Amino acid sequence: MSAQLLDGKQIAAAIRAELKSQVETRLQAGAARPGLAVVLVGANPASQVYVRNKHKACAEVGFHSERHELSENTSQAELLALIDRLNADVRIHGILVQLPLPDQIDAEAVIERIDPTKDVDGFHPYNVGRLSLRMPLLRPCTPKGVMTLLAHTGQSLEGLDAVVIGQSNIVGRPMALELLAARCTISVCHSRTRDLAAKARAADVLVVAIGRERFVPGDWIKPGALVIDVGMNRDQDGHLCGDVDFDAARTRAAWITPVPGGVGPMTIASLLENTLQAAELAAR
Ligand code: GUN
Repeated sequence: MSAQLLDGKQIAAAIRAELKSQVETRLQAGAARPGLAVVLVGANPASQVYVRNKHKACAEVGFHSERHELSENTSQAELLALIDRLNADVRIHGILVQLPLPDQIDAEAVIERIDPTKDVDGFHPYNVGRLSLRMPLLRPCTPKGVMTLLAHTGQSLEGLDAVVIGQSNIVGRPMALELLAARCTISVCHSRTRDLAAKARAADVLVVAIGRERFVPGDWIKPGALVIDVGMNRDQDGHLCGDVDFDAARTRAAWITPVPGGVGPMTIASLLENTLQAAELAAR
């Protein structure tokens, strides 16, 4: 068997086209142009690439977008003051502070300062709480993008055994909440998990988000599984690769995401969806 590809690049392009047309309709009706502010502290090269891609995607769909690039030694007070200004700015509907932040800054305090209705990352405790109660407002972008990809398989998720490898606040934990809301039975695995291979082999849905190159070998994949690879790593030859051994896994899975071109573009598509949603919340 060779798995069908979950083509995030194509699905994300369709979402952007749809958003662009919704923005045009909104503007014709006299509504505000959706606006996103992305805040980057320091010069982490990976973060710079992500921020550039987010800005480019905003321009493509017709959003107003601003980049706030602050120096590596920005203080907590300066960053909080910027958040306060953006919270009060009526042109800005979404605020995203790119993580990780330098050591002198308390990331939790920064996230908590963002107005929850502008928290397009869905990281504020208010939004995490709402997701856990099955009454989501703004949902974390990567897990939301994964749910959109899974919907494209056309398969019902109800009752499936889902295994999430990785327990980060950005992906693993909200991913588990999304899959639970979709009525899967969830296992969240991490560095202390015993017999990870056996747990992965039992997974009808396997989501891997640990950031280790080709960590999941092909023989961990249950035949017919839906495999979602959130990883984005560079191997020793400089090639981008995921957390799953793609070539081996695709001979067993029913559906699998490629890296690149799987989850990555969906994260940005979800960010755009959240920004439009935040603009709609502001207009209510
Ligand atoms: N760093 C890595 N992924 C993300 C993300 O989804 N949002 C933010 N703000 N920072 C990140």
